[in-house]
Amino acid sequence: MTTEIARRIESLIAQMTLSEKLGQLTMLAASLVETGPPGPHNPATMVREGRAGSILNTWGAKEIREAQRVAMEETRLKIPLFFAVDVLHGHRTIYPIPLAEACAFDRALWQRTAQEAAEEATRDGIQMTFAPMLDVSRDPRWGRICECAGEDGFINAEYAKAKVIGFQNAPAQPERRLAAVAKHFVAYGAVNAGRDYAEVDVSQRALEEIYLPPFQAAVEAGVLGIMPSFTDVAGVAMTAHKPLLDDLLRQQWGFEGVIISDYNAIAELIPHGVAADLTEAATLALKAGVDIDMMAGAYEQGLPVALERGAVSMDEIDRAVRRVLKLKFALGLFDNPLRGLEDISPTPDSDPSRRASARDAARRSIVLLENRDQFLPWTKAPQNIAVVGPLADAPSELMGAWCMAGEIDETVGILSGMRTAFTGSTITHAAGGDIETGDAQAIAEAVHVTQAADAVVLCIGESRHISGEAASRTKPAPPDSQLELARAIVATGKPLLLILVGGRPFVLPQWLIDGSQAIIAAWFPGTEAGNAIADIIKGAWNPSARLAISWPVEVGQIPIYYSLRTTGRPNDPKNGFSTCFLDAPITPRWSFGEGLSYTRYDLSDAQVSATTIERDGALDVSIDITNAGKMDGETTIFLFIRDPVAQVTRPALELKDFQNVALAAGARQRVAFKLHASQLAYPGMDLAPRLDSGRIEIHVGTSSRPCDLKRVDIEVRV
Ligand code: BGC
Repeated sequence: MTTEIARRIESLIAQMTLSEKLGQLTMLAASLVETGPPGPHNPATMVREGRAGSILNTWGAKEIREAQRVAMEETRLKIPLFFAVDVLHGHRTIYPIPLAEACAFDRALWQRTAQEAAEEATRDGIQMTFAPMLDVSRDPRWGRICECAGEDGFINAEYAKAKVIGFQNAPAQPERRLAAVAKHFVAYGAVNAGRDYAEVDVSQRALEEIYLPPFQAAVEAGVLGIMPSFTDVAGVAMTAHKPLLDDLLRQQWGFEGVIISDYNAIAELIPHGVAADLTEAATLALKAGVDIDMMAGAYEQGLPVALERGAVSMDEIDRAVRRVLKLKFALGLFDNPLRGLEDISPTPDSDPSRRASARDAARRSIVLLENRDQFLPWTKAPQNIAVVGPLADAPSELMGAWCMAGEIDETVGILSGMRTAFTGSTITHAAGGDIETGDAQAIAEAVHVTQAADAVVLCIGESRHISGEAASRTKPAPPDSQLELARAIVATGKPLLLILVGGRPFVLPQWLIDGSQAIIAAWFPGTEAGNAIADIIKGAWNPSARLAISWPVEVGQIPIYYSLRTTGRPNDPKNGFSTCFLDAPITPRWSFGEGLSYTRYDLSDAQVSATTIERDGALDVSIDITNAGKMDGETTIFLFIRDPVAQVTRPALELKDFQNVALAAGARQRVAFKLHASQLAYPGMDLAPRLDSGRIEIHVGTSSRPCDLKRVDIEVRV
C-alpha cells in the first residue's frame, strides 16, 4: 500500500460517523434495482446512508450500475461498494465441481478454470469470490464434500495455491482479477457424522497436519480474504475464535486481508450458546478479528452498544474499517467503481475457447471406475442405445452446487451429448421416474425402452439440491426410488453402462456393481457435461482422472481414507483381534488414486539419487512409466512416504507430491520428483516439527493401493 493510499484511508476514517464505519463492515445480500418495501432496512436506503459497504450475490450490468451509482452519487463520502459472489466452479460457464476437478490432479487445470471464471465474473461486475473452499473432508455424508478438493490436506493445499493464483494473480488485466476468499476456516469438513453445521471436535494435531495447511497455502499465495466456518472447533465458535483468527492467521501467518463472516454467522453465536445478544456476538466477532458482518446486522446493531459499554474500542472498529478500505483500494474501485463491468453478460460461447476449456476440464475430472472386458470405449457403438434414468435428460442438475449465473439452456445434458456423439446409433430415452420419487409406470417404460436396445446407459444419482450446503445424507447413495429403477434395468440383462451423477462417492449395492459392465463417476461436470461424458464413452478422451477421495463400501466405514494412521493391531485376516469390521471389508470399494484408463501403465525401476538424506538435503526420486496399451493417454503419478518409526504414530501413507504424464501408446518416460528433507518432518509429541534419523519408505505409483506402488527406502541422517 502506498503512503498516498494510507493517507486517503486515514482521511476517510477521520471523516466517518460511527454508522458509516459500521456500514463499511456490513455486507448485504440485496438488489438495489428491485425497490422493496421502504424503511430503515431497505437496501437502497442502507447504501444511500452509508450503512452498507459491500453486496453479495448480485451481478450483471443493471444491478451493479445501479448499486454503485447510489454509492458514488448519493452517499456522503462516495466510497464504492464491492460485489462478491460464490464463484466456486465457474460463473456463467460452469466447470466441474471442485471434488471432481480435484480428481484431475492437475494444477494447471485448477488454475486455468479459476482464471477463466475470474474473467467472466469480473465482466459481470463481481470483484470477489467466496472461493476456494478448502475444507478437507473424509465424510461423504456431508453434502459440502462436493465443494472441496477431497480427503487429502496436501491436495487441498496444492489446489488452494492454484485457485488463488488463478482467481487473483493470473488474469493479465488488473480489472479481470477476482479477489479470493479461502473458506471455511477451519475443519468444517470434519462436522460430526457429516451433519452440516454440527460440532467439530478435532485434535490440535489434526488441525496442524490436515486442516490448516490448505489455508496456510492460500495465505502464502496472497489470498485477500478468509471466511471462518459456521461451526465451532472443540467448543470455540470459529466466528469468535481469537486464537485461530487473530493469533494464528494474522499474527503468526501474517495474513493482511479481510476476514468475512459466513452468512448470518455473527448472530448465530447466540444459538451457538456463546453470546447472550447481538451486542455480545458482535463484540466477540470483532475482537476475534472478523472485519465484515455478512447479513447478520450484528455490527450495525450491536457495536454501538458495545462501544458505549466499553466492550470494544473505536480503535478496534477503525482497524477493521481500514482493512476494508484497503481492499477497495487494492481492487481499484476508488479509481474505477465499475471496474471490469461490461454491459453484456458473458456466455460460454462468447469466447469460443471457453466451452472447449469446460469440456476439457470435465473429461479430465470424470473417473472410470469399472470397465469389464473392455466394454468401453464404444469406438464401434451399439446400434440401439437406451439412455435411461432421471439424470439422463436433466441438464440443470449437471451444473452442481454453485452455479448461480449458469444457464440451463447453455448446459449439455447426457442424452443430448450422446445424441451428438453417436449419430450412427438409434438413441431412445426414458427417465424412469423423478430424482427422488419412484413411479412404477415410469420404471416399466424405462424397462421397455431398455429391452428394445442393444445396450443401456443408466444415469442415476443426485440432483444438485441434495448435494452441497445443508444437504447431509445418512445414506450417501442414489435415492431408493432410483435404486428400484436400477434393479429393474439390471434385471433386463442388457449390457449396462452405469453413470453416477452427484457430489459425493456413493455407497452402492453389490448387485448394481455386478450388474454393470462399466461404471463412470461423472460427478457434476458443468456446462459441457453431456459432451464430456460422451467423449469418455466414445474414447475421444482416454479417461485420466483418479479418485481424490476414497469410495466407501458401507456407510459404517466412514470416515475412510488412505492416510489412516497405523495401529498396534494392524488388520490381519488370520487374527480375530486385529483391526477390522466383522461385516464389511476394511478397505474402500475404490481407493484414493484409483481410476481406470483405456490403456495400461506399467511402472518399473524406482530409484533414488541418494540413499541418505541430511537435514537440509534433497534427493531425486524417479520411476519409469510405460504406456503398455494401444491408446495414447495421460495419467498421474503419486509420491507417498511412510515413516515406520516416529515419536508419534504416523499415517500408513502420506502424499508428498504428484505429477501428470502424457504418454503416447508404447512410449516410456522417466518421471522424477525432487524430495526435500523438510517434507519428511512431522509434528512431534509437542507438535513442533521434527525430523528423526532413520528409515523412510518412499512409495511411487498410480494410486494409494499397495499393488499400484513401487517402493524404495532412504535413510535420514540428522
Ligand atoms: C455458505 C458460504 C457462502 C455464503 C454466501 C453460506 O451459506 O456457507 O460458503 O459463501 O453462504 O453465499
